[in-house]
Amino acid sequence: MNAPVVAVDGPSGSGKGTVCRRLTQRQGWHLLDSGALYRLVAVSGQLAGLAADDIAGHAALGRSMRAVFGVTPAGDERIELDGRDVTRLVRAEETGQGASRVAAWPEVRSALLPRQRAFAEPPGLIADGRDMGTVVFTSAALKIFLTASPEERALRRYNQLKDKDSGVSLAALSREIAERDLRDSTRSVAPLRPASDAFVIDSTGMPVEAVVERVIELGRARALWR
Ligand code: DC
Repeated sequence: MNAPVVAVDGPSGSGKGTVCRRLTQRQGWHLLDSGALYRLVAVSGQLAGLAADDIAGHAALGRSMRAVFGVTPAGDERIELDGRDVTRLVRAEETGQGASRVAAWPEVRSALLPRQRAFAEPPGLIADGRDMGTVVFTSAALKIFLTASPEERALRRYNQLKDKDSGVSLAALSREIAERDLRDSTRSVAPLRPASDAFVIDSTGMPVEAVVERVIELGRARALWR
């Protein structure tokens, strides 16, 4: 692994996705959205008609699925699975729950390890996830753990989803986020927690620009960029 990696971990709705996208745009670096890979395993399993508890089947799909991350001409994200556009399905809140379930299985996590590490290409990688700094890129040049209060995270998710899905409610999202937080942070493999050498940023009440600026400063202090 010869490319510098910035690991950004944190719970759902902490703003990691937005912050990581801005950083990749600023730097022209690659982006690993590791949550999308777990989401794709859940979607692949569903499309293949696998039983919800078929661990080996999901792990095999994690190794074999062909995923392509791209953008539409309008600049929106587009995710293809084996040639099929699955963007909406991947981003659905239900898929987040399915992803959190398959992500608790060690076999699925190890199936996705080489795939995630392959994203570390020059000039550099911004890696967004739950275990980027603790498991996947333990020697990352910079590790960030981004968090925010549960109320603010639920509100951010609500604002993100309400235009795409009229059925979402803040109360239901708060419950789902609490459930996912609990599952992601109490699982036995790679639980969600800050790496011992991570900078913890609590973004409650902070505009996204301020969070990005803080990460840029930290990267500057490490001579990762100017
Ligand atoms: O970031 P996200 O909401 O797209 O992630 C969906 C689920 O995937 C999340 O609830 C837990 C799991 N996940 C994980 O276990 N490890 C990662 N590095 C990223 C996501």
